Amino acid sequence: MKRFLFMAFVTASALCGCGNKTTANNDDTAVAEKNDSTLILYYSQTGATQSVAEELQRRLGCDITAIEAVKPYDGDYAATIQRWRSEVENNEKVELKPLAVNLDDYNTIFLGYPIWGGTYALPMSSFLADNSLKGKKVVTFATFGSGGIDSSTADVAKVQPEATVIKGYGVRNARVAKAPAEINRFLIENGYIAGEITPLPAYSEAVTVTDQDKAIFDQACGNYQFPLGTPVMVANRTTPDGIDYKYDVKSQTPDGKESTSTIYVTVVKDSLPEFTEVVRH
Ligand SMILES: Cc1cc2nc3c(=O)[nH]c(=O)nc-3n(C[C@H](O)[C@H](O)[C@H](O)COP(=O)(O)O)c2cc1C
Repeated sequence: MKRFLFMAFVTASALCGCGNKTTANNDDTAVAEKNDSTLILYYSQTGATQSVAEELQRRLGCDITAIEAVKPYDGDYAATIQRWRSEVENNEKVELKPLAVNLDDYNTIFLGYPIWGGTYALPMSSFLADNSLKGKKVVTFATFGSGGIDSSTADVAKVQPEATVIKGYGVRNARVAKAPAEINRFLIENGYIAGEITPLPAYSEAVTVTDQDKAIFDQACGNYQFPLGTPVMVANRTTPDGIDYKYDVKSQTPDGKESTSTIYVTVVKDSLPEFTEVVRH
């Protein structure tokens, strides 16, 4: 359903407990020793998810392998959208090359993909349809234009009910350069690597947006290729780098229905506001 909503939208707009010995700290200096039981398995069309996968690999010190389509998506953005739309409409399964690893050798899998139509990309759909991850811990990661780590993780859990599926790290394509420091924090905070990091404070209670909050939202979201809605309430927190905002936003789906989302914005000292993620409800 989400795929179809997104397709309508693009049409309209024409277009580890890993048991390893890695240590890390606030200075972002993690160096990993070999971690045999964890695999990083990813699909990436244009390289963003691959760069996150490789950063995770460097920190975790585990095996890494890519999922590849027999017929690669080697066209530009418009061609990819067209092929994806046609494959979804015709219920066509993307054929994959054989995996270079044996999944039985791993008990934790970091599973990465770009978000396509609000969920994991089609090659990952094929992988999940053809392979059982029964009994494994699966930690998702994703790159996206605006968001989708929550919805895609829920979708992985749905198709792999016998795996323990955990939401992992997600980053906007436009912010991939910020990923290494965020991945460091993500891995330490969740206990996947050892290390110390200053915890971030909780968000304040949400209040009605002021004109100033609205101006920050507009600076962060106004240039995005699709409209992201109108902020109604906002909470914030002060971090070592600046201020983070969490907006409750009202918007309309392509078919005119009212919908709500949470949009996270960060304002790092001396930089322009940027949104980090849209979580659609
Ligand atoms: C067919 C297609 C559908 C997409 N759908 C979404 C989407 O629903 N939401 C979103 O935030 N980004 C969407 N994107 C953007 C990609 O998720 C984003 O560019 C991603 O970082 C690409 O990762 P890669 O470089 O690893 O292929 C879409 C891109 C393509 C090509």
